[in-house]
Amino acid sequence: MLSYRHSFHAGNFADVLKHLILQRMLAHLSKKDAPFCCIDTHAGAGSYDLSHAYALKNKEFAQGIGKVWQRDDLPPCMLEYVQQIKSFNRDAKLTRYPGSPLLTQRLLRSKDRLICYELHSTDVELLTKAIKRDPRVQVLHADGLQDSIKRLPPAERRGMVLIDPSYEVKADYTLVVETLKKMHLRFATGTFALWYPVVDRKRNQALELAMKATGIKNIQLFELGIAADDALPGMTSSGLLVINPPFTLLTEMRVALPWLAETLGIAGAGHYRIEQLAAE
Ligand SMILES: C[S@@+](CC[C@H](N)C(=O)[O-])C[C@H]1O[C@@H](n2cnc3c(N)ncnc32)[C@H](O)[C@@H]1O
Repeated sequence: MLSYRHSFHAGNFADVLKHLILQRMLAHLSKKDAPFCCIDTHAGAGSYDLSHAYALKNKEFAQGIGKVWQRDDLPPCMLEYVQQIKSFNRDAKLTRYPGSPLLTQRLLRSKDRLICYELHSTDVELLTKAIKRDPRVQVLHADGLQDSIKRLPPAERRGMVLIDPSYEVKADYTLVVETLKKMHLRFATGTFALWYPVVDRKRNQALELAMKATGIKNIQLFELGIAADDALPGMTSSGLLVINPPFTLLTEMRVALPWLAETLGIAGAGHYRIEQLAAE
């Protein structure tokens, strides 16, 4: 039984980093003429109403995209991401936040493809409506970790996989590593981005060790924290482990992450990590 709903969290500081990196990866893939395929294993509802009671419960978006979207001193690599968010909000008020599938859909060219998985029956319906009819996009009501493996490598032989679980079930921390190993065996040249929260640092240390132990090369880690570990009841930091990142991502994140830590950190407690977890 799935109880996690992303509508409570849409646009929070974790979404800002995740969607910025997603946008940079897709922009990089679009630089070459050849088509690509993107797989979103945990797609969510696709679009979030920030005036809904769920979003207003903790107003997480106000501490995330709310602090960023109208700044005029954005790092250059954030301009396109923020422009995208603005395109979903015609007025000066922030009322809607797009999820990963809608952000990706906007960046597809006519020859590119997106495959989205969502297990929650309500969210998969919302997602299907939000995507509308689009021959480039497939929405599947299935387990994204299990089913996507067999779709690799994609026919295009170019692309990326976003893995964005909610980690409600602690077994997810090990399941994602096992899944990435299988995916990478089938599609070694693909780009893979695994999102993770920092709630209990020991779990993250174990995750990083397990990823190193896979022997997969070229893994970079990008993490943003808004408070010291354990300073808040829930998530204090979050990040992405990126396998085969675009070569431009490291340079971009060296500018974006200090800015985000300064802008989103609570009472000056923002921090970040950038690490090459496994060498090229
Ligand atoms: C963190 S949310 C996704 C947010 C979305 N990726 C975004 O950035 O906008 C995780 C979603 O995964 C769904 N989910 C959980 N387990 C899943 C699985 N095994 N396969 C597909 N979806 C799953 C949940 O219902 C939830 O909507």
